[in-house]
Amino acid sequence: MRQTGPYNEKVMDHFRNPRNAGELENPSGIGTAGNPVCGDIMEISIRIEDEVIKDIRFRTFGCGAAIATSSMVTELVKNKTIDEALAVSNRAVAEALGGLPPVKMHCSVLAEEALRSAIDDFRRRQGKP
Ligand code: FES
Repeated sequence: MRQTGPYNEKVMDHFRNPRNAGELENPSGIGTAGNPVCGDIMEISIRIEDEVIKDIRFRTFGCGAAIATSSMVTELVKNKTIDEALAVSNRAVAEALGGLPPVKMHCSVLAEEALRSAIDDFRRRQGKP
């Protein structure tokens, strides 16, 4: 993949044209994650029907890698079951983006954690642990 600067083109595309940015009205669950390394924050809201993530949005106050990984994780898990979504690791998100610079791998952890947090919130609202 062509590399311009520290980020490849796919990362830059998701950074410049993020998919599923924003927040859902009346979400089934909403979760946030903060990055202890840099203080950046990501919020993910999901709408779940029959255990499937029917819609998902993100808001990220963070670096380019955080925005690109947010965008990519929403694409990866949309229309997936909850179990399938929980199997998506931060590494899988980074790989789907064609890789991140090593110093930026910690940014991808936000995407995994915010998604898990949103699913946890959905479970809590259902009265499940
Ligand atoms: S530097 Fe904070 S998430 Fe990337």
